[in-house]
Amino acid sequence: MERHSDSDITIRQLDISDADDFINLYADEKVRKFSSRDAFTSKEAAIEYFMSTDIPHPWIRAICLSGRPVGSISVSPFHGTDKCRAELGYMVASDCWGRGIATAAVKMAANSVFVDWGHLERLEAVVDVENPGSQRVMEKAGFKREGVLRKYYLLKGRPRDAVIFSLLSTDPLS
Ligand SMILES: CC(C)(COP(=O)(O)OP(=O)(O)OC[C@H]1O[C@@H](n2cnc3c(N)ncnc32)[C@H](O)[C@@H]1OP(=O)(O)O)[C@@H](O)C(=O)NCCC(=O)NCCS
Repeated sequence: MERHSDSDITIRQLDISDADDFINLYADEKVRKFSSRDAFTSKEAAIEYFMSTDIPHPWIRAICLSGRPVGSISVSPFHGTDKCRAELGYMVASDCWGRGIATAAVKMAANSVFVDWGHLERLEAVVDVENPGSQRVMEKAGFKREGVLRKYYLLKGRPRDAVIFSLLSTDPLS
C-alpha cells in the first residue's frame, strides 16, 4: 500500500463544493460499519444532511489528499457545563485506508483545536472494541487508552462496548 508524506495530507474548512465528495463518503458501506446513523435513502437526503449538519458544525474539517477531500474529522463540544472536554470523530474513504491519512489528520486536528478553543482541556474519542484500525490511529496519534466502556452506545439497535481514548491539552503529540 502506498503511504503518503504528511505534506500530501491536509485538513481544511468545509466548502459547499465538497458536497459530492461527502455524499460518496456517507454512501461508503465500509466507512458506515460503526456508524449509528442509518444510510441515506436518497441523494437529496444526503445533501440535506451535509447542508444542515456538516456545514454549520462548530468544528469540522475536510481531510484532503493532494487537495481532494477523502474524509472528514470533527470535534463536538459536550452540551451542558463540561466545556473542558470535546469528542473527536473521523472517517476516511475506504479506498484510501492504511496510508496514514487518519493518523496525520488526527494529529493536525488536535494541534488546531486546542489553539482554536483555549478553554479545551481534554479531547476524547470513543471507539468500538471491534474497530482495531481506529484504536491504532488513536495510539499512533498519542492518545491515552483509558479503558472499556461496557454497553456504551447503540449500533443498529444493539448495545456495544467501546474503548475510550483521550488527549489532554498538556499531553505531548506523538
Ligand atoms: C478508522 C479509519 C479512520 C482509519 O483510517 P486510515 O487512514 O486507514 O488510518 P491510518 O492509515 O492512519 O492507520 C490505520 C492503522 O490501523 C491498522 N489497522 C487497520 N485495520 C486493522 C485491523 N483490522 N487490525 C489491526 N490493525 C489495523 C493499520 O495497519 C494502521 O496501523 P499501522 O500504521 O501501524 O500499520 C478508517 O478505517 C475509517 O474511516 N473507518 C470507518 C469510520 C471509523 O471507524 N471512524 C472512527 C470512528 S471512532
